[in-house]
Amino acid sequence: MTVSYEGQVAIVSGAGRGLGRSYAMEIAKLGGKVVVNDLGGSVTGEASDARPAEEVVAEIKAAGGEAVANFDSVSSYEGGYNMIKQAMDTWGRLDTIVCNAGILRDRAIHNMSEDEWDQVLAVHLKGCYTLVRHAWPVFRQQSYGRVVFATSGSGLWGNFGQANYAAAKMGMVGFMNTLKLEGEKYNINVHCLGPAAATRMTENLMPQERLDQMSPDHVAPVVAFLGSSSCTESGLVIEAAGGHYNRAQMVKGPGVDFDTNDFKSVDWVEENWGKITSLEGAQAMWGMGQTREEHYAAKG
Ligand SMILES: NC(=O)c1ccc[n+]([C@@H]2O[C@H](COP(=O)([O-])OP(=O)(O)OC[C@H]3O[C@@H](n4cnc5c(N)ncnc54)[C@H](O)[C@@H]3O)[C@@H](O)[C@H]2O)c1
Repeated sequence: MTVSYEGQVAIVSGAGRGLGRSYAMEIAKLGGKVVVNDLGGSVTGEASDARPAEEVVAEIKAAGGEAVANFDSVSSYEGGYNMIKQAMDTWGRLDTIVCNAGILRDRAIHNMSEDEWDQVLAVHLKGCYTLVRHAWPVFRQQSYGRVVFATSGSGLWGNFGQANYAAAKMGMVGFMNTLKLEGEKYNINVHCLGPAAATRMTENLMPQERLDQMSPDHVAPVVAFLGSSSCTESGLVIEAAGGHYNRAQMVKGPGVDFDTNDFKSVDWVEENWGKITSLEGAQAMWGMGQTREEHYAAKG
């Protein structure tokens, strides 16, 4: 089946530049109408500017697509509401939200201020909640919805100096894990996408030869697939970076059982540490207590 957004509406947050711009352009190219949201501030989240979102809307229109600009902050509850309302008022439906807006306030934890922690959590993690919370009733009502969160290898694997950002990005994975359960009955699928691409966020972190291999346009097709009706799975974490796509997954080891009438000492824990921490035969879980394999087998 050919992946298409024909007749569908998507919101991409932080779509005024970088990765979000590529996602919006890709979805529009596939026939989707797009709310291009961007506050337009600096990489650390200061100030605002309408131009980035307006320019992407103009680009989409010049290419024959349909788009409207939105300048709300994703960290505001009302901002999330406004975006959903704008999609509904303009086109009467909403199919996909891509929660991509982001800022950086990097600092080693012993120097990280409360404000640096709060601002990053507000844009990245609350910025997913504000959109999901207001899109969810629409998705439930129409028994269809697709959600993609922009996670990061920083949260999935750790990155020095990004405790706030990593916590927010991994928080999205926990958020997704519960939303996939709450959305299942309503055909609402939720995924996390961890990109790596040459944008203003990464321009000083890597040599130019490497950045040249990392166009955001290489990430956009995966986001467009995850956010489309063609992707019928839910709860996946996919990484996409310069010429490479892969899945990432939290797994549960088989562990070790003991009789609960027989309390174990800390020495027993030490003796059995190898078995407790072993990942041999580890499995991906669908929810608490059920493996992903069991879940999909039961669904047929
Ligand atoms: N570039 C990478 O390699 C990389 C790696 C991992 C994750 N990410 C994630 O991908 C997303 C996009 O990053 P990018 O590299 O394109 O960065 P970018 O700075 O080029 O784009 C982010 C956009 O989000 C907008 N934004 C920031 N705060 C906002 C708010 N409160 N409301 C609305 N818009 C807001 C900015 O104005 C900006 O246009 C981010 O969530 C980032 O954390 C990027």
